[in-house]
Amino acid sequence: MTDQSSNQMWGGRFAAGPDAIMEAINASIGFDQRMAAQDIVGSRAHAAMLAATGVISDSDAQAIREGLLTVLSEIQSGSFQFSTALEDIHMNVEARLKEVIGEPAGRLHTGRSRNDQVATDFKLWVRDQFDAAETGLLALIRALLTQAEAGADWVMPGFTHLQTAQPVTWGHHMMAYVEMFGRDLSRVRDARARMNESPLGAAALAGTSFPIDRQMTAEALGFDRPAANSLDAVSDRDFALEFLSTASICAVHLSRFAEELVIWSSAQFRFVTLSDRFSTGSSIMPQKKNPDAAELIRAKVGRIYGANTALMMVMKGLPLAYSKDMQEDKEQVFDAADNWMLALAAMEGMVKDMTANRDSLAAAAGSGFSTATDLADWLVRVLGLPFRDAHHVTGSLVAMAEAKGCDLPDLTLEDMQSVHADITDDVYSVLTVENSVNSRQSFGGTAPDQVRAQIKRWKALV
Ligand code: ARG
Repeated sequence: MTDQSSNQMWGGRFAAGPDAIMEAINASIGFDQRMAAQDIVGSRAHAAMLAATGVISDSDAQAIREGLLTVLSEIQSGSFQFSTALEDIHMNVEARLKEVIGEPAGRLHTGRSRNDQVATDFKLWVRDQFDAAETGLLALIRALLTQAEAGADWVMPGFTHLQTAQPVTWGHHMMAYVEMFGRDLSRVRDARARMNESPLGAAALAGTSFPIDRQMTAEALGFDRPAANSLDAVSDRDFALEFLSTASICAVHLSRFAEELVIWSSAQFRFVTLSDRFSTGSSIMPQKKNPDAAELIRAKVGRIYGANTALMMVMKGLPLAYSKDMQEDKEQVFDAADNWMLALAAMEGMVKDMTANRDSLAAAAGSGFSTATDLADWLVRVLGLPFRDAHHVTGSLVAMAEAKGCDLPDLTLEDMQSVHADITDDVYSVLTVENSVNSRQSFGGTAPDQVRAQIKRWKALV
């Protein structure tokens, strides 16, 4: 919409209103209305502080605080008329407050600017999202722990290069993701603690000559302290960048896990069966059950990391203090936050519902000469061979098994002795998959005892 008159909030020196294109590029109300609740909470705290410090009267503060609740309820009920001419959520709220309570509304913006106001609102919004991410990560970790506990000793192939490497346990594989999402959780908590300083009262950039109490508004809004430099307070978007980079790393983890679920649920692998609730069908191929949720989670990293890159580029090279470029921060963070939370919830749902196919896992665990390392270790331990020689002997035995079309345990003792004369019957004890995983008792190893110890540790943490 185009308004011929100048802006009622700042138009004092303007004779004409903005061009329609100017209004279109300038307005953020289309998206920053998502911060309405934060804007109103911040303004109510500011008004209370202005009264407590004697900057405005108690009765004006009272009228402002009550009027703001009226405005909030209008926004929440959907009856509020947002105006593009009023640019953003801050001016939309204040203009409506003026209509509701009249003259006292004009006193709210004392000792404050939209620069500290937007930084405060956005911080409050991002802080809520850090909390939502924490909740989502905890739920996902708990779902993984349930899977790990059920299959702490179920054998499956472990891969490197997606080639069979050594047998591991299902529980161990699930716990690898617990570690990854656990680091994400700690990044979330870290960043949330670091960002929790209040910009409110930094005003436009230099602070204010009014005797405001920044400690009071910081406390009222749940911040640990006021930000200590007013220039930095209005220029800082580190909290948004940390949110996006934390989200990006977590999205990488989600994507890697999603990729495994796509592979594992294929007819060729059959390691897991995804529930009907988290799969879709094909409109042409009746037999299909597609892992769409996993695929979409795999894709989310693209837009989340894209948002991270976008905001990094917006912020680089900006001089202190506020520049309007910074208005471009919100859509990136909103979109990344929505998709991060959705991906976490979808992954939690999939993990909770999926069934590990124990028999397929076990069958695959024993194929591909997965216990070759165990054989080499036996040659070292029992025959005293240097590991390099043991590696070579084992390699010859693998080649022999491959030529015969059998697995290592199927070679006869004579076959074995033809490669190294000192090999005894005892070697077969280490060629089973169960022996292989049970023997890996080193700290953090795949032995079920080790896995169970880690599950216990994590259960106490989450
Ligand atoms: N809509 C603006 C933003 O999102 C609010 C701050 C405007 N400040 C200013 N000095 N023009 O960044």
